[in-house]
Amino acid sequence: MNNPTKTKLTGSAAWKALQAHQAAMATLHMRELFAREPRRARKFSLEAGGLLLDYSKHRITAETLALLAGLARQADVEGWRARMFAGEHINASEDRAVLHVALRASAQAFPAGADVMPLVRQARAGMRAFSDAVRGERLQGHTGKPLRTVINIGIGGSDLGPRMLTQALWRHADAPQAVHFVSNADPQDLAHVLTQAQPETTLFVVASKTFTTVETLGNAQLARAWLVQALGSETAVNPHFAAVTTNLKAAAEFGIAPERCFPLWDWVGGRYSVWSSVGLPVAIAIGMDRFEQLLAGARAMDEHFVSAPLEANMPVLLALLGIWYTNFFGAETHAVLPYAEALRELPAYLQQLEMESNGKGVDRDGQAVDYATVPVVWGAVGTNSQHAFHQMLHQGTHLVPCDFLVPVADTGTAAENALAQSAALLAGRDAAQAQRRFDGNRPSSTIMFKNLDPYTMGQLVALYEHKVFVQGIIWNINSFDQWGVELGKEIARTLAQADTAATEAAMDASTNALMRRLRSWRS
Ligand code: F6P
Repeated sequence: MNNPTKTKLTGSAAWKALQAHQAAMATLHMRELFAREPRRARKFSLEAGGLLLDYSKHRITAETLALLAGLARQADVEGWRARMFAGEHINASEDRAVLHVALRASAQAFPAGADVMPLVRQARAGMRAFSDAVRGERLQGHTGKPLRTVINIGIGGSDLGPRMLTQALWRHADAPQAVHFVSNADPQDLAHVLTQAQPETTLFVVASKTFTTVETLGNAQLARAWLVQALGSETAVNPHFAAVTTNLKAAAEFGIAPERCFPLWDWVGGRYSVWSSVGLPVAIAIGMDRFEQLLAGARAMDEHFVSAPLEANMPVLLALLGIWYTNFFGAETHAVLPYAEALRELPAYLQQLEMESNGKGVDRDGQAVDYATVPVVWGAVGTNSQHAFHQMLHQGTHLVPCDFLVPVADTGTAAENALAQSAALLAGRDAAQAQRRFDGNRPSSTIMFKNLDPYTMGQLVALYEHKVFVQGIIWNINSFDQWGVELGKEIARTLAQADTAATEAAMDASTNALMRRLRSWRS
């Protein structure tokens, strides 16, 4: 009989089989698994495009994978995947399709029945024309000088993706312009960047899907004031601004003409939008041809995701391994460790992708879940991370599954260091003195690739997007809404209002006391 307090997931046969299997696996050391299976490294590794995933350093056997794949089949991952690619409204709470995959598609028409490709092609052409003009210094500011500095103003998905990719691909950047990013509500963020810019030669790209985000509009207003004050005229705004938005009306009210507005659509989530015009700063930095390579890399991963069997499907494997530790070993966090300075923004990017998508406690049917969803995703660039927190990874009390991302070319000994870390986490080391002992048996995936180039970055980002999708399907949650960020925004508006009596009536005693102190210190 079904236990009514359980959700469909935890009451399911696939879930219970995994729980039973975990009890047997919990006491097994990976050293033993490697000793038993001489071909383990080969058996548990997979290549897709230029990415090599080694997942042999996990507490798994072939049976574990078969049971996890059973869980994915039970959740109908393949069916949901088809629904996403068909443009069905799988983002049910917002009644929207989820079609970021169309942004990198090359098909003439996609998806069947709701072809968005004419819009996508037109937007790509617009991006190409504009980025070419900026890079070719044909775009001039109010006083006729070419624009030499680009400042992207956006936050969340309108910032993290282009920021991360511009950093990751800096060696491919050949534009005469410097490209900067400003996101924070703290005006010092913009102030600092403006110390590196001249009003006559600066282009601001205001990226906001909604064009209502307080931080972005506040920074855009400050930038506008800086410009108008220096150049002495409101007519200076249009030549120095462009927008990326769905909200042309609000952009026009700000003073940005429609021909300087680049589109976005409600079927693209903010954290999935870097493939769209949100990628404009990246296209300016590296050129549209290389941006197209980025799209091609993502497309290759889409094709792999759609066609490979679940057991040999890279995003599916990453998703299942994550679920294995989160739901059956109680791991509460997951570390992302890129071993290349150029990837230093990747952990922050993946934090939004994973945690804004799957940080949900209610399932698609509106029922509270009785299982963990996304773990805390965190990390930092290696080898710096080794000298900061790896002590805890090796000898701490938390089980922290790790992803090592290892580009091979031009990263010095960083790659060897990454492999040394995962080897140490696996094997550990015995010692007479307890403090010097390493238990090992700490799981990690290694994703290795030759070069940090646009194509590879496209593959890598799409890999994580699909991992997040698969986990969301298995957890039976909607990965594409983000209602959890709304309440804080509303309260911030209440706290910012001038009417302090109204604020006090609305707020709790602690917040009111802190606000009183804040006002007194400010004055
Ligand atoms: O508040 C969260 C969020 O809605 C993210 O999902 C989004 O990426 C970000 O704000 C920025 O939104 P917008 O692009 O509309 O300014």
